[in-house]
Amino acid sequence: MQKILMDVDTGIDDALAIAYAAALPHVELIGITTTYGMAPVDFSYRNTCKILEYAEVDVPVWKGAENPLTRTRAYSGRIHGTDGLGNTLGPVEAPVATRHAVDAMIEHIYKYKSELTIVATAPLTNLAMALAKAPEIAEMVGRVVIMGGAVMTVGNVTKFAEANIIIDPEAASLVFGSTLPITMVGLDVTRKTLLTARDVKRWRDGGSKLAQRLAPSAQFYLDAYKELHPYLPGCALHDPLAVGVAAYPDLVRTIPMFIQVDLEEDALGRTTEDLNRTGKAEPTTRVSVQVDADRFMNDFFHRIG
Ligand code: BDR
Ligand code: CA
Repeated sequence: MQKILMDVDTGIDDALAIAYAAALPHVELIGITTTYGMAPVDFSYRNTCKILEYAEVDVPVWKGAENPLTRTRAYSGRIHGTDGLGNTLGPVEAPVATRHAVDAMIEHIYKYKSELTIVATAPLTNLAMALAKAPEIAEMVGRVVIMGGAVMTVGNVTKFAEANIIIDPEAASLVFGSTLPITMVGLDVTRKTLLTARDVKRWRDGGSKLAQRLAPSAQFYLDAYKELHPYLPGCALHDPLAVGVAAYPDLVRTIPMFIQVDLEEDALGRTTEDLNRTGKAEPTTRVSVQVDADRFMNDFFHRIG
């Protein structure tokens, strides 16, 4: 069994990613840390609890960072709704969060060491805080799959930057500047895995119980995408692909690179290769540059039902 800890800002595609991870038979979802991102952390925490209830699995959830390391966050609700789930959340019975997500993350890295894969599909604040508190975890954890960034394509917030990186660029810079064994799953590959109106209709009309429960949020995401990117035939499965890469590493072709995150305002959050290769002997980040999209999509639909 592959042990996975997810770090999320649920978020509609985070919700799909959680449902997918919970449905993978060779994955043991050992816990989920939550943070702000597409909605405030209170929403992302409750959304995560709700999706786990939909998926009928019992997985611990912890609440983490409420803000970026040094910046403030404003929420538009444009792509994920004001509640993060396309305004479909409704009442949720979430347990009172007791431990901080950062402590839970460090504890689980200590417990499972190289057996553990972290899948981060949110701004990287929790991970950066964990590294600041316990820098030794960089050498302990098995792998960190990060949905974030773009190397060969344009961003989705500015022409340079992807959302999870630009929301907390200082955190992203710390994480990519560390020796964590990172697999970056950025827009270069996630824009090739699209959920279409036909797929969502199939979920709504004849999908599994889980698929039918996810369909209204997915429809919101699809509609928001259509408005923003009318030329695309669907909405990107960013976060589910990160889970896919954690579960099946050969889904993507990767290239080792030193990734640096721009902190200058004119290119804030841009992820580029540091051609000077400053600091480290060998790159510990592998950047996904190609994906077997058909294989991923087939597995994703098969598992969600
Ligand atoms: C990332 O930002 C959020 O909108 C998604 O959940 C994903 O993690 C894509 O840029
Ligand atoms: Ca996300």
